[in-house]
Amino acid sequence: MSTPGNSIIGAPITRVDGSLKVTGGARYAVDHPLDNVAFGVPVASTVGNARIANIDTSAASRMPGVLAIIHHGNTDPLFRPAGGLMPGRAGEVRPPFEDDKVYYYGQYVAIVVANTFEQAQDAATKVKVDYEIHPSVVDIADVPPPQGPPRIHYARGNAAQAFESAPVKIDETYIIPTETHNPMEMHATTARWDGDKVILYESSQGVVNHQHIMSEMLGIPVDQVQVLSPFIGSGFGGKLFPWPHSLMAALAAKRVHRPVKFVVPRNLMFTTVGHRPLTQQRMRLGATQEGKLLSIQHDVVQPTSLVDTYVEGCTGVTTMLYSCDNVEAHQTLLPMNIGTPTPMRGPGIVPGLYPLESGMDELAIKLNLDPLELRLKNYAEQDESFNPNRPWSSKHLRECYQVGAEKFGWSKRTPRVGSMRSGDEILGMGIATATWHAGRGSATVRVRLNADGTARASCATQDIGTGTYTVFAQIVSEKTGIPIDKIEVVLGDTSLPDGPTSGGSTVTATVSPAVSQATAGAIDRVIAAAQTLPSSPFKRVSAGDAPPALKMTAGRIHAADAPPESGMPFQEVLAQKRLAALEAESRTAPDPATTHQYSAHSFGAQFIEVAWDPGIARLRVSRALTVIDAGRIINPRTGRNQILGAVVMGIGMAMFEETLYDPRNAKPLNNNFADYIVATNADIPDLDCIFVEYPDLHLNEFGARGIGEIGLAGVASAVTMAVYHATGVRVRKLPVRIEDLVAGQQLTA
Ligand code: MOS
Repeated sequence: MSTPGNSIIGAPITRVDGSLKVTGGARYAVDHPLDNVAFGVPVASTVGNARIANIDTSAASRMPGVLAIIHHGNTDPLFRPAGGLMPGRAGEVRPPFEDDKVYYYGQYVAIVVANTFEQAQDAATKVKVDYEIHPSVVDIADVPPPQGPPRIHYARGNAAQAFESAPVKIDETYIIPTETHNPMEMHATTARWDGDKVILYESSQGVVNHQHIMSEMLGIPVDQVQVLSPFIGSGFGGKLFPWPHSLMAALAAKRVHRPVKFVVPRNLMFTTVGHRPLTQQRMRLGATQEGKLLSIQHDVVQPTSLVDTYVEGCTGVTTMLYSCDNVEAHQTLLPMNIGTPTPMRGPGIVPGLYPLESGMDELAIKLNLDPLELRLKNYAEQDESFNPNRPWSSKHLRECYQVGAEKFGWSKRTPRVGSMRSGDEILGMGIATATWHAGRGSATVRVRLNADGTARASCATQDIGTGTYTVFAQIVSEKTGIPIDKIEVVLGDTSLPDGPTSGGSTVTATVSPAVSQATAGAIDRVIAAAQTLPSSPFKRVSAGDAPPALKMTAGRIHAADAPPESGMPFQEVLAQKRLAALEAESRTAPDPATTHQYSAHSFGAQFIEVAWDPGIARLRVSRALTVIDAGRIINPRTGRNQILGAVVMGIGMAMFEETLYDPRNAKPLNNNFADYIVATNADIPDLDCIFVEYPDLHLNEFGARGIGEIGLAGVASAVTMAVYHATGVRVRKLPVRIEDLVAGQQLTA
């Protein structure tokens, strides 16, 4: 119950959808029960660069249960998204089966539709594809340098000159390999046609975007596409934009006049639904003897696919994180035979921070300075990436460093390599800065107050596992005093009021104001009704008097200057008016004036301890503490879950994750969970997270910023820093391998 001083905003409410998830009641993309369902299984290219010379479906089409085999030779035409004024973004702009070209291994060549999944899978193995094969390119060293200017260019001051004359310098190149997001729920679509309308059950981070892209690529009006994604088994960015399988499912369902279910097999999760592209990043830092940055130069090379131009914008963070007069950054793209990359948790900033934060550590060592001290010496009081500089909307990074250092025991760190021991293990400690931009978009939310005492809030936006259902319920409860368990939240359906894509850690900041305003609107309608009740205790005392100001507290309508008990429950107002419900809808958007006045970012400090046991060549992360300044935290339970989950992912990035391509056919060699290593429970120590809470009221009325991505930001550089501290081996190519550490030890022994 919301009473002053006991706000439900900021309370650690358990996920409102939690019991549905753990009891199996939550329906994911292929869980929706539909009559007469057929199943689609893909035939995917086994080469990376080719022309399809022939597809022979004769044997496969005679197999039991096979209903259709669709490929470029027999499909209805699809369309490319127009871009420009048309809203929406596709993961891959090339429609499936557009022509006979193969641009990457795993590209869909055909889809087999059958009565059962097993029949479709069996028949798919019997489709014979002849390729005219060309050499594949999957190594950036084999791509000729592109002509023309770099994709990204940023400059302030004269970084090259300042670097030349700087007394202390770092010039190192860092490599982050291709990483592939593999949410537990694989990408999947259930497609069903109802006349001219297609209904798609998706695993999507953006149903509204998905709807628009499907409309464009299928060539049907947007109101003839409905996309539903009530539950998502996580996405991490991979499910932001529609991928070809969704179009294939729609095509197949149309062809066989039955609903079709299609699940992207785990091996194709590595090729056809995006990944974080490899980045090769040269970082040059110049500083005074005292450790003041004089120059930063950041040069990034990144592969993209041959069908799309995807930019992993790594340099943005370089331009704003530290105070420095001379900064220059470039990023160049190299197209090659891979599927199109896509955002993966913390796109651009996470990979961009790795060379910047690692470079800062290498610089600190050269300067004989504590790495935390070096960061404080170059603290950015304003966002210097803008000219003129912009004030931060709210920044409490200094406090993050201080709180974290104290809690973690940073002052106990002795800087000499290998100088900290615990039993057989050598300990290493690292620190990194984390940041993520604080975005906010527009949203429309509808809130209904029902005569049975319940409330319902709805919006097309989806909960990707982060807690959006819970945040909606908390805000409605806060405003009305209706208990959480009497509030129904309905999300993930394009037939509901327009809502944002769950991307860029922006949903909470975006929807909170709309939920708040729509709730206030619904309360106003109940109040207006209360004032006209025949037996109203709230009527004007005499004609011409203003009616008393009313408010709603703990679910009761009452005079503002009298206690809630003096009024009546809102449901009684509705009952007396013979109304089943009253509702209101609000659309909110950021104020463009504020947006351009302030630079809004979240910040944090990440502390990592590793333990290296040279006797058995074992490296593990032994402690991790993250301190985050992300404005007001609406729900510390789901918030903490976001940060800790991201730290787990960061440990995976630092120590395990790498997608490897076979140069012969462009196949991701480790396209399965046995060979693509992610962090598991045994790799994760006790993790801790602290929020320093300063509401960012320039962003929205609650002061909440997003927290989905920032927890990953500094982990990899803090781990490699800690590894250096423990072992003396500086790893500049992720992931950290035991081989590197063993070889390094032998060299220094
Ligand atoms: Mo995030 S990579 O915007 O899902």
